[in-house]
Amino acid sequence: MPGFEIPRHVAIIMDGNGRWAAARGLPRGEGHRRGVEALRKTVRAAGEMGISILTIFSFSAENWSRPASEIRDLMGLLRRFIRNDLAELHQNGVKVRVIGAREDLDPEIRKLLEEAEDLTHGNDGLTLVVAFNYGARQEIARAAARIAAEVQAGRMEPSDVTADHIGQCLDAPDLPDPDLIIRTSGEQRLSNFLLWQAAYSELVFVPTYWPDFDREALETAIAEYHRRERRFGGLIARTGS
Ligand code: IPE
Ligand code: IPE
Ligand code: MG
Repeated sequence: MPGFEIPRHVAIIMDGNGRWAAARGLPRGEGHRRGVEALRKTVRAAGEMGISILTIFSFSAENWSRPASEIRDLMGLLRRFIRNDLAELHQNGVKVRVIGAREDLDPEIRKLLEEAEDLTHGNDGLTLVVAFNYGARQEIARAAARIAAEVQAGRMEPSDVTADHIGQCLDAPDLPDPDLIIRTSGEQRLSNFLLWQAAYSELVFVPTYWPDFDREALETAIAEYHRRERRFGGLIARTGS
């Protein structure tokens, strides 16, 4: 996209797999499988476009309320994605990070996630942040618990707690907040995704179901981002006034 400054951190709520499948008379699992293909394309496009960080909402802390068979499908897809795609991601210099609560995950899945992080740790291409078993309220509660423990141990005072400090206790404290959050499928809500980090993110909602998302859809969302005026509570300096 010539002439455009590319957002540094793009986060995507990959939604609409089930409806994509239902519209075609297919089982929901087929929608999830096609969703993984859209993810592959999007990761490739993001890297080529010069995006530094891509965060993807893969499985929410609330998605455990779905039927067991669908959860099995989703866990199986994650397993397969890491097994089949990790080598290629690594080859392309992608650095994988994971956010979310790992403790409740199947040990095999935990191991795969750790393997992906360890293998790609030294890479300096696109950072791919996988939000898995992720909920923003839970993430903030984990941060609060860590701070409470510091206070209890006498290492800090309650009055020392600042927004920056809370930010530093979140799951990926070294990463900048997302500039742009895209949600597919037409839903216009955050569904407990990055609530803290989204304070000044631009939100772009697109009607496309996730399996149909591709490079062109990403470019269109970024073009919309460029039409926005980010003010961060301040004023934009205007010439001639
Ligand atoms: C997104 O698609 C994938 C996950 C939430 C894991 P959905 O499964 O939510 O699809 P819809 O929203 O039912 O169409
Ligand atoms: C958000 O989508 C979670 C992921 C994309 C992983 P959901 O489909 O779970 O969200 P709701 O239930 O429509 O809010
Ligand atoms: Mg959904």
